[in-house]
Amino acid sequence: MAETAGAEKVHSGAQAPRAFTSNPLITLWSTVIGKKIVMAVTGAVLVGFVIAHMVGNLKIFEGADAINTYAHFLRVVGMPELGYGQLLWIVRSVLLLSVILHIIAAWQLTLMNRAARPVDYKIRANQESTWASRTMRWGGVVLLVFIIFHILHFTMGVVGFQPGQWQDLAVYQNVVAGFSLWPVSAFYIIAMAALCLHLDHGIWSGIQTLGWNTQRNQSKIRMASRVIAVIVFLGFISVPVSVLAGWLK
Ligand code: HEM
Repeated sequence: MAETAGAEKVHSGAQAPRAFTSNPLITLWSTVIGKKIVMAVTGAVLVGFVIAHMVGNLKIFEGADAINTYAHFLRVVGMPELGYGQLLWIVRSVLLLSVILHIIAAWQLTLMNRAARPVDYKIRANQESTWASRTMRWGGVVLLVFIIFHILHFTMGVVGFQPGQWQDLAVYQNVVAGFSLWPVSAFYIIAMAALCLHLDHGIWSGIQTLGWNTQRNQSKIRMASRVIAVIVFLGFISVPVSVLAGWLK
């Protein structure tokens, strides 16, 4: 998440051409560290959402009423000051902006990293390109495909359902019907594994970028990233696994 691991190899000479502007935010964005900060901050927003979403999903184990009422609550929260679903749209906008900035920063850091490598180093670095950096890039692509599928699936009901099967706000029934197809559940479980790896390295990288790691807390931060990643993985996969096992029906 917070940075492409490959970008760790960026040389000091890898700065993008300086933008001719007096706006400090645009100047910061044109630098390697600026893009890493954008990745760390947008990554933190996305991690917060993912944890909240995973905890919210666990309401399914309290029964259909609990999760369906929760879905309704997400639409009415903030009323009457805000209109129906308005807060949800604000959250969706922040998430979409975060995803877009996160991807653009990752993409540009990768290009800057490649451009900064001398030719002989480039050949060696390609061979050495760490497992973490490859996982971050490919994992990010898997997650993007997953999110697009997921919104078309559970939020809009336009893929993975028979006509008329998906019902607005009937989250429990939609989830049980959706995960009853094992290839769909398998895809979710694979995507959650990609998310787990992405969080494991990403949380750690983001904390490094923000300068919160020290010699003393290094191993604790490493462990905390891993624990969060594994908890998120287990929390999310518990739903498709329970449907496939017949515990949720
Ligand atoms: C097994 C894992 C997951 C399940 C069962 C699940 C379930 C759901 C459901 C039922 C909805 C529709 C909620 C509603 O209409 O109120 C939803 C929406 C959504 N989920 Fe997930 N989700 C899972 C994993 C994820 C992950 C890993 C992400 C992000 C990386 C994610 C991102 C989203 C987003 C962005 C929405 C749309 C929210 C909206 O605009 O209403 N989900 N999810």
